[in-house]
Amino acid sequence: MRAVRAPAHPGRVAILQADLLAKRFGPVTAVEEVSLTVAEGEIAGLLGPNGAGKSTTLHMLLGLVTPDSGRIRIFGLDLERHRTEVLNQVNFSASYLGLPGVLQVREVLDAFARLYGLRRPAGRVAEVVELLELGPLLRRKVIDLSSGQQTRVQLAKALLNRPRLLILDEPTAALDPDAGDRIRSLLVGVAREWGGAMLITSHNMREVERMCDRIHFMSGGRIIATGTAAELAGLFGVADLEEVFLKVARQ
Ligand SMILES: Nc1ncnc2c1ncn2[C@@H]1O[C@H](COP(=O)(O)OP(=O)(O)OP(=O)(O)O)[C@@H](O)[C@H]1O
Ligand SMILES: [Mg+2]
Repeated sequence: MRAVRAPAHPGRVAILQADLLAKRFGPVTAVEEVSLTVAEGEIAGLLGPNGAGKSTTLHMLLGLVTPDSGRIRIFGLDLERHRTEVLNQVNFSASYLGLPGVLQVREVLDAFARLYGLRRPAGRVAEVVELLELGPLLRRKVIDLSSGQQTRVQLAKALLNRPRLLILDEPTAALDPDAGDRIRSLLVGVAREWGGAMLITSHNMREVERMCDRIHFMSGGRIIATGTAAELAGLFGVADLEEVFLKVARQ
């Protein structure tokens, strides 16, 4: 299928710019020629079927996986050459990330606040605890929390350093509809308030329609279409994003 592109946000500063990223794992081509930009204040979505290459793309943007080729610029800086400076202002949360289970929630947040070298660690921990409603869980060990509660701790950790770029891999996968709804509102609020940018993956099409300003649709390691949810639906001649997904997945 030919790549179809809607224009990017004209005139807005690019927080993230990835050019022609590629990654193979042995015989598997996970990502092939992926280029995308995320503008200041934008919530961008990366969608696609299982195995499309979304997580691999995110891991390259976070410096966790080294691309075979391509270039990544974050805040206008080359990720490879300015790794520490860039990653200090980035954060990440994913449903598959583990937290140290034997630690209490408060200990986890205090440890990350110190690790990030925050200027007022106690004050910032208190802010994220309030934001994610973690007060009643502070003395609980992480291992004893439900998966939805652990997700909230993960997100609190990810917001500690007020990231200018927040990368979220299926952030609401473990949340019940009510908690998911509240986290979505919170994340949109955070993005609007801080002017930071977010790049998120999700298999929840309603979530993506509600949260994302722009969507990059991946299939077979490539971005095959970019646009708003309505633009993508129009492009594929269907009613909504869910139908776009089914059409792409079944082609
Ligand atoms: N470390 C690895 N070693 C070998 N193959 C890998 C590795 N990581 C990813 N892959 C392969 O690369 C392809 C893309 O995987 P990736 O995890 O990026 O997909 P995804 O779009 O995130 O899928 P999902 O929706 O299931 O999370 C898959 O075929 C996967 O098996
Ligand atoms: Mg994935």
